[in-house]
Amino acid sequence: MTTTPAATPTIADLRPAIENAGQGHVLSFVDELSAGELEAFQAQLSSIDWAELPGVIDRYRGTSASEAAGSLEPPVVSCPSGTPGDVAVDADEARAAGLGLIRSGSVAALTVAGGQGTRLGFDGPKGTLPIGPASGRTLFEVFADQLAAASAWAGQPNPWLLMTSPQNQQQTQRYFEGRNWLGLDREQIRFFTQGVMPSFCPQTGRLLLADKGVLATNPDGHGGVVRALISSGELDWLERQGVEHLSYFQVDNPLVPPIDPVFLGAHAGAGGAPSSGQFSSKMVAKADASEKVGVFARRNGRTSVVEYSDLPTDIAEAVDDHGRLLFEAGSIAIHAASVAFLRSIDEAGESALPFHRAFKKVPHVDLESGECVEPTEPNAVKLERFVFDAIPVADQPMVMRVAREREFAPTKNPTGVDSVESAKQLQHDRAAAWLAAHGHACPEGCTLELSGQAAWADVAGIDHTPQATPKAGESAVL
Ligand code: UD1
Repeated sequence: MTTTPAATPTIADLRPAIENAGQGHVLSFVDELSAGELEAFQAQLSSIDWAELPGVIDRYRGTSASEAAGSLEPPVVSCPSGTPGDVAVDADEARAAGLGLIRSGSVAALTVAGGQGTRLGFDGPKGTLPIGPASGRTLFEVFADQLAAASAWAGQPNPWLLMTSPQNQQQTQRYFEGRNWLGLDREQIRFFTQGVMPSFCPQTGRLLLADKGVLATNPDGHGGVVRALISSGELDWLERQGVEHLSYFQVDNPLVPPIDPVFLGAHAGAGGAPSSGQFSSKMVAKADASEKVGVFARRNGRTSVVEYSDLPTDIAEAVDDHGRLLFEAGSIAIHAASVAFLRSIDEAGESALPFHRAFKKVPHVDLESGECVEPTEPNAVKLERFVFDAIPVADQPMVMRVAREREFAPTKNPTGVDSVESAKQLQHDRAAAWLAAHGHACPEGCTLELSGQAAWADVAGIDHTPQATPKAGESAVL
């Protein structure tokens, strides 16, 4: 049976709601648009919640860009490797529970991949960036290989959800199609697209036009993942499949274990972990006080992430009696979340996931002249949601300490700190350490990388023999 798609509302249908929201100016040029432009504009305008918009704009028009840090205390940290001061978690018990969840199909991986590689000088979705030091595999391929190994072990395909943005949705999907779904089952991979927020002038609260028939918008942040999972129907689908937990990670970290049994088991409360199984996070000790990562802290008794730009320098630099950073718990943006918790977060709306605002330079059409204006100063408010704002809403959110050298290789810059170069080096270092742990030295001048199978075996506690024993000067995928 075929269904007729609902017709897009016309400008005449939309006009009353737009004018009621005080935004009638966005229709100034509709008479000049071609049929195609008009159709696209109508689709864009009908995706905006015009009833909700005036309230949102009023709340976020103010001029202060950073959130007050408030009174902060260090968080409670759980640890499977026994760091003094942390809550001890039995790694074997947690791993066994996590493997059970994976084998029973209760876990899906979720990558937030809305970002472009622009900051890296790379033209395309960030996940398509070649990153493997020995293989040249892309970020997506590195994740896919580990998921393939986990699925082969589990005997069933654990779903992989990828959140794209309107900007990179088509390119990302074409990339997967063109590469035979990176060796995974087609049915295993599920794309959904995050929403956007319109940019507005902080003085007048008016939306800006990027073109005569296009609102200026930006992706609504990785916190948009919750709304997008629901509006796309993916959360319903996960519930129908019996998936209970999502293993969440960012697209920019080639060292992330996409599905980590110890973490998932501890998240579900195994091994003595203090966790309600709603929302959990991984942390690493910050490299130094100025490292650009959010930190976990308790604010008014609730565990939260304070973004680095919002953390006052004196607090970032404060140390304890042993000279250790008081707020050392750096967020590496790896989380586990229950499907039921994400649904409750969406129901709580803005009180659970507020917007964060940034003042940016946004080119726009001048309403008088119809010409495009390139601002020299920030002229617009952009709103985004952050997924970690869900943490204080959870009953007993767990923060688990993990080893930086095994799990964190952020790829943010073209060179230097947190760059493609450093991410390749960190993958090589991790593979060399793994090889050493398997009784082989790393020969001079080698470039090494863990295969998906080796990386999965490592987190799953399964024996794995190196696929190759490299010779001096060789590149090898172990
Ligand atoms: C982020 C975290 C920071 C953490 C660090 C670890 C924020 C605000 N900060 O910093 O606390 O310590 O990573 O590396 O998140 N994304 C979308 N859609 C969006 C925006 C982002 O999918 O609308 C995705 C990106 O593709 C990327 C991730 O979210 O995978 C991170 O976004 P980014 O804005 O680059 O955050 P960072 O500043 O790197």
